Parts: sequence; C-alpha cells; structure tokens
Amino acid sequence: MKYRKLGKTDLKVSVVGVGTWQFGGEWGMDFTQPEVDAILDRSQELGINLIDTAECYGDHLSEAFIGDYISRRKREDWVIATKFGHKFHQNFTRDQVWSTEDVLQQLDASLKALRTDYIDLYQFHSGTDEVFDNDELWTALDKQKQAGKIRHLGISIGSNDNLHQTESATRVGASAIQVVYNRLDRTPENRVFPSCVQQELGVLARVPLASGYLSGKYKPGATFSTNDVRNNHDAAATLTKLEEVQRIQELEVPQGMDMAQWALAWCLKHPAVTCVIPGCKSPEQVEGNAAAAQYAPETHPQAWNEEQQG
Ligand SMILES: NC(=O)c1ccc[n+]([C@@H]2O[C@H](COP(=O)([O-])OP(=O)(O)OC[C@H]3O[C@@H](n4cnc5c(N)ncnc54)[C@H](OP(=O)(O)O)[C@@H]3O)[C@@H](O)[C@H]2O)c1
Repeated sequence: MKYRKLGKTDLKVSVVGVGTWQFGGEWGMDFTQPEVDAILDRSQELGINLIDTAECYGDHLSEAFIGDYISRRKREDWVIATKFGHKFHQNFTRDQVWSTEDVLQQLDASLKALRTDYIDLYQFHSGTDEVFDNDELWTALDKQKQAGKIRHLGISIGSNDNLHQTESATRVGASAIQVVYNRLDRTPENRVFPSCVQQELGVLARVPLASGYLSGKYKPGATFSTNDVRNNHDAAATLTKLEEVQRIQELEVPQGMDMAQWALAWCLKHPAVTCVIPGCKSPEQVEGNAAAAQYAPETHPQAWNEEQQG
C-alpha cells in the first residue's frame, strides 16, 4: 500500500480506501456482519486504512456494520469518513435534513452507530448551495470539532463542477473535497482540482470505477436487478458509458491488465487526488482494488513522508 497526507490535515490515508455505500443494501445484495468483517479485515491486511460511509447508506446501517466491526478491533487503526444531510428511506429515497439542529442529531446518531467518540472526516453530503451557505451550521460544526467529536470537516460536492462549495472550503473550515472523478468523467480537472491544489485540500475521488462500469465486466446492454441502484440509471446514458468503456479497454488498458486496477491507478496519477474510494462488495474486490496502489506514482505532492511528519 502507499499512503498520502490528506491535504493540510495530519491524516495519513491509504491511496486506496473502501467505499461502503454497498453495505446499505442498495447494490443488489444485503450484507451480513460476517461479510462486512471479511471485507474490512482483508482491507486492513492489505494496508487500507480509510473507510468512507454516510448517514444514509441505509438508515445509519453501513455505519452500524462498521461500528460493530471497529468495536472488536482497534479504532485508531482506521480513518473513518462519514457524512450528514439526509435521512434514508426504502426504495432509493432520502429526505434532505440540513437544519443545524438536525445535523447535530445526525452527528450523534453517526457516532452511536459507528461506536466511536470521534469521526475523522465529517462531510457535507452533496447538498445545494442554499443549504451550504449557512454560517450557523458551520459554526456549530466547528464547536463539535473543538469538543473532539469531529477531527476534520469535508465537503462531498454533488455536481463535480461545484466551484462555489469547493472555493468556500477553507472559509468554512473544511480540509477535504470528495468528488466524482474517473476515466469517464474528468470534469474536476478543469476548475475543482485547481482550487483544491490552491487551498491545499485533500481530495477523495469517489465513484472511481464509474459505478463498476470501468471494471470492464459489463458490456453494452447490461441490465441490473431492481434492488441495484444501477437499475435506476438512465439506460441511454449507461449504454453510452459502456460503449466508451469498451473503446478505452481496447485502446488504453495494457494487454492483460485488470481494468478496475487500471481505472483506479488512472485516478491516482492526478497530482490533486489524495485517494480513491471504490465501493467494495467482497474481499476479492478489495484485493483487486488494493493492488492498484502499486501503480500509483512514487512521487506525488501528497505522498506521505515519515521523516517530514516527524
Ligand atoms: N454523494 C456522495 O458523497 C457519494 C456518492 C456516491 C458514492 N460515494 C462514495 O464513493 C464510494 C464509491 O462509489 P460507488 O460505490 O458509487 O462506485 P464505484 O466505486 O465506482 O463502483 C463500485 C462497484 O464497482 C464494482 N467493483 C468494485 N471493485 C471491483 C473490482 N475490483 N472488480 C470489479 N468490480 C468491482 C462493485 O459492483 P459490482 O461487483 O456489483 O459490479 C462495486 O459495488 C461509495 O461506496 C461511497 O462510499 C459518495
């Protein structure tokens, strides 16, 4: 594994993390605790230390699986990133809950589910600019930082060209941006990444496999079960993506190389990107994804250097 420093924070994160939307049950399968344990144990064996979850991957369900696991392991071995702003309902729906009071309640619910007394990275979960521009909320979150419940704040931007929220990061006390970035969608390179570099923010590249399409295993015309979020994707857009994936597979992926690994390594080359957080459904996927770290450049502006960190 390779590690990078998350922006200006003191967090040492593995370049490949584990995304855990899947544990909430919206990706074609319901998870059991032993299945989650196996994924996280394999992650740790391979040097992965970063978990990304959220309040609405199930109703704090993904967090609860992680919390159960962590309660039987060492909390300090992990960097846990979670989010606020939604209330999960069945059938792929969520309520928006952004009042300061609601967010503070969500924070306590996340701490309880995660069975921890602190969150390493607490992220604004893809809300509108209107709910983002609420100084009272950011002041209240800053107080939670001072109280030790939150180590660092982050912003998971919804549109991956949201310059308003990205440019406001330092002002609101956030240290990291989470953004959709993958070989099919390079939008952040234009405006978001330059702002992240300028502010020295950490960057978590989410959906790095384009929802699994960049693994190369799905061919144009692929369909998904009704309990898989990809069944809700626009069919024409998915077809276009899968055709593009085929073209990339032929023209860009070296012969014999696993395409998912290639796609993750592709993200990790960008100097603004700290880490990728592919969603994982099995220990085998964790193994494939962790192996992408070997292709990450040795020299990178955020490369973790033990000597410099003292
Ligand atoms: N607004 C937000 O803040 C937001 C939104 C979306 C995601 N996220 C975070 O970002 C994470 C990653 O995004 P994502 O999960 O939506 O998409 P993704 O990482 O691009 O794709 C994940 C899917 O790819 C497949 N996969 C994973 N590893 C593989 C491998 N080695 N080989 C082949 N297939 C593999 C799995 O599905 P199959 O095996 O079924 O194909 C998996 O569910 C999420 O889990 C979540 O933590 C945050």
